[in-house]
Amino acid sequence: MYTQAMDTIGKDGNAEPKAPLRSADDLLAEAPLQQRFDAAIDAGDFIEAKDWMPEHYRKTLVRQISQHAHSEIVGMLPEGNWISRAPTLKRKAILLAKVQDEAGHGLDLYAAAETLGTSRDQMLEALHSGKAKYSSIFNYPTLSWADMGVIGWLVDGAAIMNQVPLCRCSYAPYARAMIRVCREESFHQRQGFEALLTMMTHGTPAQKEMVQDAVNRWWWPSLMMFGPADADSPNSEQSMRWGIKRLSNDALRQKFVDATVEQARTLGVTMPDPDLKWNEECQQHDFGAIDWAEFWQVVGGEGPCNRERLGARVKAWDEGAWVRDAALAHSRKQAARVATAQVAA
Ligand SMILES: [Fe+2]
Ligand SMILES: [Fe+2]
Repeated sequence: MYTQAMDTIGKDGNAEPKAPLRSADDLLAEAPLQQRFDAAIDAGDFIEAKDWMPEHYRKTLVRQISQHAHSEIVGMLPEGNWISRAPTLKRKAILLAKVQDEAGHGLDLYAAAETLGTSRDQMLEALHSGKAKYSSIFNYPTLSWADMGVIGWLVDGAAIMNQVPLCRCSYAPYARAMIRVCREESFHQRQGFEALLTMMTHGTPAQKEMVQDAVNRWWWPSLMMFGPADADSPNSEQSMRWGIKRLSNDALRQKFVDATVEQARTLGVTMPDPDLKWNEECQQHDFGAIDWAEFWQVVGGEGPCNRERLGARVKAWDEGAWVRDAALAHSRKQAARVATAQVAA
């Protein structure tokens, strides 16, 4: 799924990779490489894993792609919770397929991050120890079946808005992964919208109320998925210069609001924002103030489900240890057999 401006860092700045200090000799030796890199970025070319890149660019990408991968994997939890309670076989099959897609996105993204020289074990250790971030949207609870529809419509919808520009990210392995991910995200958004439309068109008054309640709870956290306002997002400028980020947090948020207001009208739901209205002069929607205190609280680990989500991931990792051990023992045995056969031949 999901970036919440994947360059979001803790407010204390702990997770921010610093540009490493270089000696004068290093800088001299790297000057032509740096020039070639800058020229490629300026020309809009892609950077491949084997190409030289500045350490700060590499670290920024590792942080962003690993945060993104963690978000896909943690993002399976709030929806996985509803697979056994889906109302029909059709809805169950769709939800199961969607949650499996998210697992695939996570694995693709871990693989993309590994091309930058960071191991999967290192990334998972950072997640499990609480050092790495993932999208805060998954720290909210899923209280009703309508939440499944609203997550598809709004959360996957916001993810698409964030991720389509990443298909043109300057780092080619990330851009390639995003092309495939975005195709699947479209299905996620549509299935959510369709589930809501069914309830709003053919549902009982109680079901319609359930949809409106889910919209009320998810609207503001969805807007927070685009990350802090541009003025409070100091990393964005560097990321945009490097072509990692193509549009600013606020620009993406505005595009999302403008697109979803129309869709809400079709559904017959209301956004929980009395200030939301069309601005004829700017040709876009004005909307109310986002509660940034809540955003930073959730990013800082104090959201409604932060502990539950991380606890579930750590438990799954610990309980899967025997599978990883068995797979490693099997591959060692295979390798030993091949070596013995080669000696015998
Ligand atoms: Fe995804
Ligand atoms: Fe998704």
